[in-house]
Amino acid sequence: MSRHSSRPLILGNWKMNGLSTDLPAIRNIDEIAGFYAGVEVGLALPFTLIPGGAAMLKHTMIGAQNCHARQRGAFTGEVSAAMLVDCGASFVILGHSERRQGQSEDNDTVRQKVRAAIEAGLKVILCVGESLQQRETGQADAVVRRQLVESLPNAPIAAPLLTIAYEPVWAIGTGLTPDAQAIEEMHRVIHDTLQSIGHPPSTMPRLLYGGSVSADNAADILRLPLVDGALVGNASLGAPSFSSIIRQASCAT
Ligand code: PGA
Repeated sequence: MSRHSSRPLILGNWKMNGLSTDLPAIRNIDEIAGFYAGVEVGLALPFTLIPGGAAMLKHTMIGAQNCHARQRGAFTGEVSAAMLVDCGASFVILGHSERRQGQSEDNDTVRQKVRAAIEAGLKVILCVGESLQQRETGQADAVVRRQLVESLPNAPIAAPLLTIAYEPVWAIGTGLTPDAQAIEEMHRVIHDTLQSIGHPPSTMPRLLYGGSVSADNAADILRLPLVDGALVGNASLGAPSFSSIIRQASCAT
């Protein structure tokens, strides 16, 4: 089992950050992405910036951080996968722990959203990861396995439509990261689980690591054989730090 043969994928998750005044920073990131063509780069922007970003960027995929499970209807305040495609998004992050916790999204809800996103033509970045308490009580592998099995539709979704991001909840925004061995072990658990639910090695989704990835630790994480890229929160907000991570990904190939 080795690194996925396709380009490493570096995704920025801007969460609830960014105004139209940040579009020049997004353009800077796009220029860097164009320079490092061996790395696939994407930005998951707040809904409001997706049309502006999509109209401007040449080398960077634009995505969203959530969608509704239904394509239309009386769901005040919601945005459907079809609407995301319509305004220029090509991917969506689903199952992020901030939504699982803050918006009470369970695996069942996430699975319905995954199905809706794929039907609408979006690529899906599915997030999984254990809490600190779950890790400390030895449940991490079982939790992640269960999130995968229950958040994915029955029929396997082939790469490149599906990417899995392993994001331990306790590592997000804390400056803490698992050690290399823990990341490798969990990526192996994810790989084996995907195989057990019908993903042949030839269609294995890329596996990203996320949680406090920074310009300082990216090289060490990205060189791990089972890590195909990174999902980056805080460090994606500044063009210098995100560019550094993209450059380090290009060296890790
Ligand atoms: P972080 O966030 O890099 O700020 O820890 C990652 C994420 O939530 O996707």
